[in-house]
Amino acid sequence: MKAFNVAVVGATGAVGNEMVKILEERNFPVAKLLLLASERSLGKSLEYKGQSLPVEVLKEDSFTDVRIGLFSAGGSVSEKYAPLAARAGCVVVDNTSAFRMAPDIPLVVPEVNPEAIAQYKQRGIIANPNCSTVQMVVALKPIHDAVRIKRIVVSTYQAVSGTGKKAIEELSNQTRALLGMREPAVKVYPHRIAFNCLPQIDVFLDNGYTKEEMKMVNETKKIMKDDSIAVTATTVRVPVFYAHSESINIETEKKITAAEVRELLEKAPGVKIVDDPRNLVYPLAIDAVGRDETFVGRIREDESITNGINMWVVSDNLRKGAALNAVQIAEILVRDYL
Ligand code: A2P
Repeated sequence: MKAFNVAVVGATGAVGNEMVKILEERNFPVAKLLLLASERSLGKSLEYKGQSLPVEVLKEDSFTDVRIGLFSAGGSVSEKYAPLAARAGCVVVDNTSAFRMAPDIPLVVPEVNPEAIAQYKQRGIIANPNCSTVQMVVALKPIHDAVRIKRIVVSTYQAVSGTGKKAIEELSNQTRALLGMREPAVKVYPHRIAFNCLPQIDVFLDNGYTKEEMKMVNETKKIMKDDSIAVTATTVRVPVFYAHSESINIETEKKITAAEVRELLEKAPGVKIVDDPRNLVYPLAIDAVGRDETFVGRIREDESITNGINMWVVSDNLRKGAALNAVQIAEILVRDYL
């Protein structure tokens, strides 16, 4: 099989690290793997297939010999380097929000709209959606296809790893400080995250929503190719290290029962039903860590409206929400396009 030179930009970060692991796990056809990060990481190395690879500093000419670039080093890094990489002949799969809503850049979840990847040819960039959007659309697309979703009301319970390495350290340090009766330092989030819930993810916009909430609204419409779906979101950071949970309420055009939803999602790619409330079985963040599936449970009819469903959806935000989705996109690229 043909192999490709691959660069991971932000390789030392929470998502970048996972990208390297997943490339190895899935035996992606890598000829040479280039690990890129900032000057802060000079001298570091990462393990890949039993070898220790040095981390190199990201530079304008880093991509001359690279065919696929997986970017997760923040929006400003992508804004500058993704177009440079694309010009050098590298196809970029970008995990930041820098290009997601650009009309000439595809926004892809392989289980939902793999055909959109073809559009990469326009700018050489494919956008990876926001983590909370990915797991939601994986669970909802089969229902939308069957009975058309008119409205989505979602509340998220998002893990700190979505913010990056520093936030993982912050939750751990604050928890230790509080249990040791010491004053916790607050650096990453505007308020303490340990033993707390923050109803703010990303910055506030003029309409009173956060940027994360509006990402869920806008990205869902773009991925599902349906501007008519009404979406409203409340995104909350919770003191969980890995895996996002979501309470999702939908209103559908045609009636669908809870049993029919379960039946549909049993067959849906990337979904695993975990729904046996009588035995206290439902999706849990701690069970989703390190797993590829989007777990769906607590499926029940919304008795307050005629055609409504409630469900609880959990997935590993660093995997399906970020690194795995990016690698799955790259797999389709090499299979069908490169
Ligand atoms: P570094 O570790 O050298 O700072 P996280 O999201 O977990 O905080 O990780 C962010 C990733 O993006 C890290 O790998 C980080 O590298 C990388 N990064 C951040 N800023 C830059 C930059 N200006 N140039 C290259 N890599 C960057």
